[in-house]
Amino acid sequence: MAVNCAGHSYQVYIKAGVLDELGRMMRGLLDSNRALLITDHQVEELYGERCRRSLFAAGWKVKTVRIPPGETSKSLPQAEELYGAALDFGLDRFSPVVALGGGVVGDLAGFVAATFMRGVPLVAVPTTLLAQVDSSVGGKVAVNHPRGKNLIGTFYQPHLVATDPAVLTTLSLRQRRAALAEIIKCALIGERQFFKWLQSHLGQVLSAKLPAATRAIAFSVQFKARVVERDERESDHRRILNFGHTIGHALEASTGYRYYLHGEAVLIGLAAAVEISRRRGLLEPGAAEAALQLLSRVGYRPPPADLTLSAVEERLKYDKKRRREQLVFVLLPAIGEAKITAEVDESLIRAVIQEYLEGGGPFKGAFI
Ligand SMILES: NC(=O)c1ccc[n+]([C@@H]2O[C@H](COP(=O)([O-])OP(=O)(O)OC[C@H]3O[C@@H](n4cnc5c(N)ncnc54)[C@H](O)[C@@H]3O)[C@@H](O)[C@H]2O)c1
Ligand SMILES: [Zn+2]
Repeated sequence: MAVNCAGHSYQVYIKAGVLDELGRMMRGLLDSNRALLITDHQVEELYGERCRRSLFAAGWKVKTVRIPPGETSKSLPQAEELYGAALDFGLDRFSPVVALGGGVVGDLAGFVAATFMRGVPLVAVPTTLLAQVDSSVGGKVAVNHPRGKNLIGTFYQPHLVATDPAVLTTLSLRQRRAALAEIIKCALIGERQFFKWLQSHLGQVLSAKLPAATRAIAFSVQFKARVVERDERESDHRRILNFGHTIGHALEASTGYRYYLHGEAVLIGLAAAVEISRRRGLLEPGAAEAALQLLSRVGYRPPPADLTLSAVEERLKYDKKRRREQLVFVLLPAIGEAKITAEVDESLIRAVIQEYLEGGGPFKGAFI
């Protein structure tokens, strides 16, 4: 499928086995014979050799750099090490960086590709469900600063995205569950028909069964790409992708980014946003129930015992301040639609967060 971002068009291939075709696909696209492969230790163990085999077969000279898995690798010191490796290898402006891994590798390698020699080609090979449905589309690349996540970054579009859904079988169920939040988000604000399909294929997507996982990834990528493209003409449209993220981010931040996976917090944020939409009389009860039922089938991570309402509220206020006093909230007027608003009654938000903390309301019986 073709994606068009910032006047730059590139292909996203979503197909089981695409990993073995990577070298050949890159040949047709890039005028070089050197590639810097960036991956993490865990992904290297599982898919490094296969990826290199495909590159060698198509005549690429490859240098592999492995980083430690985990968020702490998304740092400027780590990027500096990678610049050093690129220089040692003699990477020039026409030679690609290949990012083989999840969102951490994708963001870091993307940042390095965007900045090394003012930009070298980037080939993304996302291997987590989150990276396949979300971080590999949209062009955001970044590293963290000791004072905050993703503070140093830019927009940089890849030359090619090669997504192989067959690699998802080795991913933990926890990681797959978390990524489902982004897929359900796309279904809820994107398209009623896909939402219906997801209702009957949720189990198959969760267990990474092939035709279902491929369809879910393709829909989410297409939806996100469409939104990002439209955002270039209609500023701020992209904000609808923040559906479920206002409360989700507050939960992540109030627990120091150590307790929830991003998607786990977003799943809770989605349920809260659906419930708020229903209580505001915006979303009809039947639709709200269907949405909440789908979300609860994935299952919510219970709050840590010491998390308080005021700690979550504190982070919501912090977000509000950063956006110059406007707490932007995305609501759901119907399945397949989104509405951006600044007017959400704070007591309503508070009530729903309290229900999550107590395991009541829409969260009742749905903790895992
Ligand atoms: N750029 C964007 O638009 C965007 C969007 C969302 C998230 N992100 C970023 O993505 C990052 C999170 O990404 P993530 O959730 O992919 O986590 P991750 O990259 O940390 O990967 C999670 C774990 O899964 C392992 N792994 C990867 N692929 C595997 C496979 N196929 N089988 C078995 N194990 C595998 C990794 O080694 C790692 O230990 C965050 O830093 C976040 O900020 C970026
Ligand atoms: Zn997200």
